[in-house]
Amino acid sequence: MISVKASADGLVEDQAPRFPPAVSGDYILRQPNRWMNMDALLDRFGRRIEYLRLSVTDRCDLRCAYCIPEGFKGFEEPEHWLDFDELERLIRVFAGLGLKRLRLTGGEPLLRRNIVDLCRRVSAIPGIEDLSLSTNATQLAAMAGDLKAAGVTRLNVSLDSLRPEGVEKINGRPVLDKILAGLEAARATGFQPIKINMVVMRENAAEIDAMVAYCMERGFVLRLIEVMPMGDTARKMGYVDLQPVKAGLQHRFGLIDTVLRGGGPARYLGTPDGRFTVGFITPISQHFCATCNRVRLTVDGTLHLCLGQEERMDFRALLRGGASDAELADAIRLAIDLKPERHEFVEAPQKLVRFMNMTGG
Ligand SMILES: C[S@@+](CC[C@H](N)C(=O)[O-])C[C@H]1O[C@@H](n2cnc3c(N)ncnc32)[C@H](O)[C@@H]1O
Ligand code: SF4
Repeated sequence: MISVKASADGLVEDQAPRFPPAVSGDYILRQPNRWMNMDALLDRFGRRIEYLRLSVTDRCDLRCAYCIPEGFKGFEEPEHWLDFDELERLIRVFAGLGLKRLRLTGGEPLLRRNIVDLCRRVSAIPGIEDLSLSTNATQLAAMAGDLKAAGVTRLNVSLDSLRPEGVEKINGRPVLDKILAGLEAARATGFQPIKINMVVMRENAAEIDAMVAYCMERGFVLRLIEVMPMGDTARKMGYVDLQPVKAGLQHRFGLIDTVLRGGGPARYLGTPDGRFTVGFITPISQHFCATCNRVRLTVDGTLHLCLGQEERMDFRALLRGGASDAELADAIRLAIDLKPERHEFVEAPQKLVRFMNMTGG
């Protein structure tokens, strides 16, 4: 038998095996009937958790200035990576509790060996209605068709500049041509929608108009993202408030509110003719925690309950220690109860030392 322990500060440590999970008295007082609620992943704030972002690797071929610092050495040991059997089993249990949507991310997910097999396996899990993937697209040209055939329905592609030197400076490698080729392959393969993630900083704010034109022309959805203070490198990037940018684009193109399938935390606006949609991910100027429906699993099997906080639970120990499916399900419910109300990027930006490649964006 296996157990986990939720400590008073919300962190979860590996413990000697025991089930049901040991929980702090404080926790029990807050949630007296939690173990009776067997059918829904509802957290303490009434949010239904139905979306898992799965980081399949923390490695990447790029070094985006806001994400992985050049020379970074702290990558996870391969023996700690959950293998595909472990991942599939955990997601199957999650789906049995109500998980509906899955996004593969990283690091760069297309670098994980045999990632197409994993896509095929998890997209076939009963209850999983939607499998999407976030990528930097450097490997996408050769893989787009296989990914689609394996059940990936939607793609998010990072693109911060349309200038070769802009990409080299922000993303750390001269890969603009590869990214654009990947995007064209994805378009030809029929992915719909394709969303372009542009992290807006002082370095590239002047390129927003060019990115809007590029996306309009190709039918891509544009998502403009405020840089989050994940680790020292990201904290040094020049933050740009997207509220004035949003107002400017709204005025220029007569944009109206739009709802987008799988819209997540972004607020979307579109042209009245539906030709162009733009989303704004504004964790700093206007946070979206009240409607957060997601949790994140890192490659080492840690379930993070919030991108900007430390509450987490170790599922590798459970999986490798012989936990039954029922024990995994109990641990998932306990973890969901640890989900904090909101991040504190603004109040305590120095608090978060994880980089985005670890938690998966
Ligand atoms: C960590 S990446 C992983 C997937 C893939 N490698 C990619 O770049 O799309 C996921 C998303 O997180 C975004 N991201 C990384 N660090 C960030 C930060 N400090 N602030 C805001 N977004 C960030 C990236 O731009 C990307 O859109
Ligand atoms: S944002 Fe994506 S592409 Fe850039 S370093 Fe992070 S994981 Fe790699």
